[in-house]
This record gives sequence, C-alpha cells and structure tokens, in this order.
Amino acid sequence: MIQVHILKVQKMAFINYCYIVINTQSQTVLLIDPAWEPETITTSLINNGWLPKAVLLTHHHPDHVHLAPYFASRYNIPVYMGKAEIDYYSYSCPNLIPIISEDSLLIDTIHVLPIATPGHTYGGVSYLIGQNLFTGDTLFNEGCGMCQGKGADAYQMYKSLEKLKHSVAENTMIYPGHCYGLPIGQKLGNVLNYNIYLQFKDAESFVAYRMRKQQSGLFNFK
Ligand SMILES: [Fe+2]
Repeated sequence: MIQVHILKVQKMAFINYCYIVINTQSQTVLLIDPAWEPETITTSLINNGWLPKAVLLTHHHPDHVHLAPYFASRYNIPVYMGKAEIDYYSYSCPNLIPIISEDSLLIDTIHVLPIATPGHTYGGVSYLIGQNLFTGDTLFNEGCGMCQGKGADAYQMYKSLEKLKHSVAENTMIYPGHCYGLPIGQKLGNVLNYNIYLQFKDAESFVAYRMRKQQSGLFNFK
C-alpha cells in the first residue's frame, strides 16, 4: 500500500508542500520536491526509520528543487526530472536521471508513472504513484500554475490539464506544490468541481483567462 506523508515547509514568503511517499509493505521511500527545511524532512525520515531511495522533481524552480542536491548527496540516491526540463534550463544536480518517456518507472518497489505536463515550465512532469498524483505547480486545488516566464506556455498548460483530467481517475488524490485555500489531499473529483481552470471547453478561452491582465493577485485564481 502507498502512503503519502505531507510536509509543509517554508522560507520567508515561500510556503511549499513536499511529500514523502512510502510503500508500507517494503518500506521503500521516495521524496518529492524537497525544499526549505532540511531538518523537518530529515527528522521525519529518521523518526519513522525511513531511508529514501530517490528524489522526484516536478520542475526546476528553486522552491521545488532546493534540497535535491542535499538529499542526493546525503543518501547517495538518484534524482529524477523530465529530460526536456533539464535540457531547456540546463538544470544540474548530483545523481540526476532524466526521464525520457512516460513509461512507468520502477524505483525499488514503487511504480511511478511520469506524466509530461508542460505549461508552467517547459518540461514539467507530474507523477502518478498508486492513486496519488503529484502535480507540482501544474495543478493546484484552486487553480493552476503561472504561465509566464521562460519556457512557460498557457496553451501547453491547457493541454496538460486536459491530459491529467483524462488520464487519472476521479478518486485520485491530488498533491500540489502549494495550497491556496482547500486543504491538501483532495480527490480529483472535488478539484474538478471547485477549480475553474479545469472547466474551460476550449484552449482559446482558457489561454485568455489564464493570461488575463486584471487578475487581482497572483494567487487569486478567480
Ligand atoms: Fe514553479
């Protein structure tokens, strides 16, 4: 059985969610987007007797990759990221393994399905592990990631959100990198009802809304 341990971590204004994924039978452990608080994450690992076998990164932004080099070196474990993301941004990290396809990866005893979800960045990847989807800054409960900056593209974001809607079941638990209202750990079915970014019928209207100038605040999604 796959269990998800949620960690809220912070550095000044940045509040992120990173995740420890555990196969409860084998005790295999993966880290997703570790950042900001090495002691919080390490203490949780040590207190539970967990030894991480890999780090999975959704995209290259500092608030998601901050502790990847630390954990790669501390435990001498591989760090996975989409190849397009690595190449486009020249990302480097010890033990970095590029993900080159959407074929399932078997990491120790945990099956990980990488789903390419560009839009927020050029080569972002979401990860489906059991019935849990880790979306980074692609899909939040309340909205979706920004589509400005190098390599970002609102049209690609629309396609990525459509892809997620159609490739995971409605009872899949959604675990984003940030939280702006609804508690972390919602089922996709709830998010589909709540999140207007999943309700557009065509790319053009999605792109116009996502890129609107009159958004009252970056994280005011409506
Ligand atoms: Fe980001």
